[in-house]
Amino acid sequence: MSKTQEAWSSRLGVILAVAGSAVGLGNFLRFPGLATQYGGAAFMIAYFISLLLLGIPIGWAEWTMGRKGGLAGYHSSPGIFHAIIRHPAGKYLGLLGFIVPVMVYMYYVYIEAWCLGYALNAATGNLSLPGMNYSDFFATFTGTRQDGASIHFGLSDVGIFVVIVYALNFFFIYRGISKGVEFVCKWGMPLLILIALIILARVLTLGTPDPAKPDQNVINGLGFMWNPKEIATGLKNPQLWLAAAGQIFFSLSVGFGAIITYASYLKQKDDVVLSGLTAASANEFCEVALGGLITVPAAFVFFGTAGIVGMGTFGLGFNVLPHVFAQMAFGQFFATIFYLLLFLAAITSSLSMLQPGIAFFEEGLGLGRKAAMGVLGLLTALGTALVWWFSKDLKALDTIDFWIGTVGIFVCGTILIIVFGWVIGIDEGINEAHQGAEMRIPGFYKPIMKYITPLYLLAIFVMFLLANIFGWNFKFGPEAAFNPTSYVTDLVGDNPSGPARIAFGFIVITIIFVTFLVAQAGKRWEAAEKSNGGKK
Ligand code: PHE
Ligand code: NA
Repeated sequence: MSKTQEAWSSRLGVILAVAGSAVGLGNFLRFPGLATQYGGAAFMIAYFISLLLLGIPIGWAEWTMGRKGGLAGYHSSPGIFHAIIRHPAGKYLGLLGFIVPVMVYMYYVYIEAWCLGYALNAATGNLSLPGMNYSDFFATFTGTRQDGASIHFGLSDVGIFVVIVYALNFFFIYRGISKGVEFVCKWGMPLLILIALIILARVLTLGTPDPAKPDQNVINGLGFMWNPKEIATGLKNPQLWLAAAGQIFFSLSVGFGAIITYASYLKQKDDVVLSGLTAASANEFCEVALGGLITVPAAFVFFGTAGIVGMGTFGLGFNVLPHVFAQMAFGQFFATIFYLLLFLAAITSSLSMLQPGIAFFEEGLGLGRKAAMGVLGLLTALGTALVWWFSKDLKALDTIDFWIGTVGIFVCGTILIIVFGWVIGIDEGINEAHQGAEMRIPGFYKPIMKYITPLYLLAIFVMFLLANIFGWNFKFGPEAAFNPTSYVTDLVGDNPSGPARIAFGFIVITIIFVTFLVAQAGKRWEAAEKSNGGKK
């Protein structure tokens, strides 16, 4: 139905694009933040179990279903589910594969703008002024002290950078799959890895910058992140399992519409099994070996434990690290390339959040590329405006991140693996994956994909509901850094938050609106299939 016959220009291209989607702010900010918060080694155990039981199998299912849907002529998640399930309700199962990437984009791009802004401020020396207060700079730049405070357009405000990242994202999406997405990832990914290696070399050779504090050295910094402590207690904490599973989904970009759309531009004989594994491995290298070794040791050698504990994901990246860079030799240079690295990681991810939306507007509503971009631009800008305006304590950002970026992702990934293992059927699904594959899915993954992955998801989801929605306090091990029930009490408690309610209302309206669009799209698809004798 979409007239554009888009495709990846090479095998490496699609792997780089999926790796580009995966490698993002999650690797360099979210991962080190979570791993330290949950005590390092214990977190890593739950993390690797989630990688093996959730990330890799759901990734294979998603690559396979994406390619299958693409061969039937569909590239958006609602379209692909419609083609695979062949039931009028099928397309609605793909709804979240549109909602999640598009709504994550709305706030992800706001953080992407910070990265670009920090890179420019670092380059111009604005981040290394003598005696500067970094939390003030951050609060002003992002507007965390007052709603509406960051609608400014100077060099030290987020405004101009929001405009620039919007323009860049839509420009590359406009150029299409091979000339836009693939192009950015082909250049961006190697550059990103090069920068990360340079910074890593710098961090690992920091030694003991303050001779008066001999304990604050690189080895102890690495130990702070990785030394096994209280593993048994940590593993009894359900929050840790939730956080580890959530990180795997978010970081691998698995289960919520990004990969399914990218894979839909593959050809019948293109491999999906080895490609999926390669992209996942690239993400894990960037996460564990690069993300895990840079930020935490760097903060530790200059500020010790105090620089890390309780700083949160953004505090570490945008408060502590600029200060760290300002204290090291050639700090201005390293700060500039570090924020450039974050920006590159972010833009290759945000492009993958737009493509599912473009694909849906093109094939679902019959829009041309420009019109599809216009509609998606308006919709996402509305959400970003909300995040940008309600910037006090990043309330709107946080609300959308929780309900869409955490709850939505869980639900979406669960639907995906159940459709693969039970609706398509596990034998049929694995056969499909093996078409053109350069490696086979190991046999023991068959029962995993059919039973263990869904059960594991269910167990985690039940714990997640109990802890986060119903406020059960699991009294084991370290407490989570956030008040687990606040996302609910923000909406319905005695002291609700206006911005949280508005952001939540926006989510609900968007879901209703998109459901309506999917219904329209379904009519188009059915009509086209009838006139084609059952084939699109
Ligand atoms: N995987 C990305 C990261 O680690 C985030 C992402 C979310 C990418 C949603 C695509 C879609 O930062
Ligand atoms: Na990632």
